[in-house]
Amino acid sequence: MASFLRVASLWRYRLILSLLLIACAITLIAGSAERQPASEHQPVYQPENENVVYMIPTTPILSQPSRGSSQTAWNDAPTSTPQYSLAEANILHDLHSALSTMQEQYFAVWLGKYTTAIDWTAAVMSTYVSATLSSLSQSLAYKMPGTFDKDRKLDVEAQMVENEINKYFAQSTTYYFGEDHFAIRMQAFDDILWVVLGWLEATRFIESHSLQHYTSDDQVGGQAWHARQFLPAFSHRARVFYELAEQGWDWRLCGGGMTWNPRLLPYKNAITNQLFISASISMYLHFPGDDNCSPFLGPYDRSHPRRNQLFDECDEDMRGRYDAVYLANALNAYKWLKNSGMTNEQGLYVDGFHIGGYRTNHSKTTCDERNEMVYTYNQGVLLSGLRGLWEATGQTHFLEDGHELVRNVIRATGWHNPNLSSTPPLSQQQQQKRATEEKVSQPPSWSGLGSNGILTERCDPSGQCTQNGQTFKGIFFHHLTSFCHPLPTHPTQPGKTHAATRAIAMLHKRSCTEYTPWVVHNAQAALRTRDKDGRFGAWWGATAPDLSSSRRPGEDDDVNNRGRGRTVETQGSGLAVVRAMWEFLRRDGEVL
Ligand SMILES: *[C@@H]1O[C@H](CO)[C@@H](O)[C@H](O)[C@H]1NC(C)=O
Ligand SMILES: *[C@@H]1O[C@H](CO)[C@@H](O)[C@H](O)[C@H]1NC(C)=O
Repeated sequence: MASFLRVASLWRYRLILSLLLIACAITLIAGSAERQPASEHQPVYQPENENVVYMIPTTPILSQPSRGSSQTAWNDAPTSTPQYSLAEANILHDLHSALSTMQEQYFAVWLGKYTTAIDWTAAVMSTYVSATLSSLSQSLAYKMPGTFDKDRKLDVEAQMVENEINKYFAQSTTYYFGEDHFAIRMQAFDDILWVVLGWLEATRFIESHSLQHYTSDDQVGGQAWHARQFLPAFSHRARVFYELAEQGWDWRLCGGGMTWNPRLLPYKNAITNQLFISASISMYLHFPGDDNCSPFLGPYDRSHPRRNQLFDECDEDMRGRYDAVYLANALNAYKWLKNSGMTNEQGLYVDGFHIGGYRTNHSKTTCDERNEMVYTYNQGVLLSGLRGLWEATGQTHFLEDGHELVRNVIRATGWHNPNLSSTPPLSQQQQQKRATEEKVSQPPSWSGLGSNGILTERCDPSGQCTQNGQTFKGIFFHHLTSFCHPLPTHPTQPGKTHAATRAIAMLHKRSCTEYTPWVVHNAQAALRTRDKDGRFGAWWGATAPDLSSSRRPGEDDDVNNRGRGRTVETQGSGLAVVRAMWEFLRRDGEVL
């Protein structure tokens, strides 16, 4: 308990932060001089095609001390609390509209596909649909069918919400068949794991919506929500993909960790490991179970005499919710990640580790080449994992680690004082050199993950993000929203999951409440990037009031039309941050 309540001196913190930022800037400048053309490092690792491969030798992974966290108490808060005044109805309207724009403009029902997405980004978009439906489901209390509140208005409103939910749920089911799962099976482990998280989000939505708005599924007479019939299908896909991903874990190289891609030189990166943590603990807590043994064969008759003969083998290792293997996987993976030395001076996860010289000498096992690039999504996916690890173990250090990461991110957007330039001013010449070399022009107030308190991908200001980069910020906000879900004060499954004491639940809620103004600030910035068709732009900082006026940009001078412009990925990121705003504001108002 004591460690939560320790109040670190704010001034000391600012001083340390400034020193770290100066060190960071020096490293960056030095790093850009050292950088070699990518062609000299074959095969090239360019995760997002953004030409940002840094090869800075670091101390071997296992001898590197993990970043001390003892100084950070939860209530060493980002201190800025600007005023915001928002009408609840407007936010809910913006949420509905962000979702409908995404589905109407980018989803082809007849194909069951986001036609311009790539496999993994489509999986993420589908995840947002399920998560948003959960939010909409909770926005109104009603019972289906025929048990409406007597108040006519609620009656009509409930039917409208229910109809909308059914509409988008139907689209999710077409996506289930449109998802190119044969292709994704052969892709990298991170691609595979997005699929797991997506279908677990869908099963959680089905279960919670049924529970909240329909009578018990046990009831005879078909009163349960029809969507429950998809639980076995969605669960099956989650399990098949989880088991494919498990093959990516390896103890030999780097002392453990998930490998990014089985067909390339070993790369142990943040995203694959964070996804594995989050997927493993989500399987532990939420996997509805699966008795369909076959990934390929069609429906089979349980009573068929040959069934046992055909499926005997796989029946034995079927795992269900609360299976100890899922928990062990999540714990191992987090232990490895935390000790891997993958965070930088700002406490942010860098992209990952290569093994120097592995190409010519496969006996090497040390992760000693760190890719220093910082992406927003590498700070996000872990958060839902940490929330789950807490619920499965009751150990509060998982929550502490999560809050520390969130605070590091918020600081790295320059939020602690939006007016202050956090990076030491570079000379004009240095700035030009850097801008030319990196082919990106950062605003002068760049703080590591944004400026002016707005989360920004490094490729955003120059309009050079790929499809990958355009997806990252939404992922951060999706997982932040999961992390800040109120802690249960009663265990969901006694003996398998844990409840929070009242004090811990309050502390978590209070910390999350402190993030609300920052979340709102980001969502409002994202909303300002919408064009006349309601489509979100990629760079939310483009319309920050202190960079330009708050007017909506015209077609010609809209920087968010550069590069790939507005896409399903930028729309999905907008949806995720608006949903985050809705959830944070709604939870702030909840009495614990
Ligand atoms: C290959 O790497 C191993 C482990 O680092 C080392 O012991 C061995 O000498 C290396 N072999 C060559 C030929 O460099
Ligand atoms: C930021 O600057 C504006 C205008 O210069 C000022 O009104 C405001 O108080 C400043 N905010 C902070 C947090 O310093």
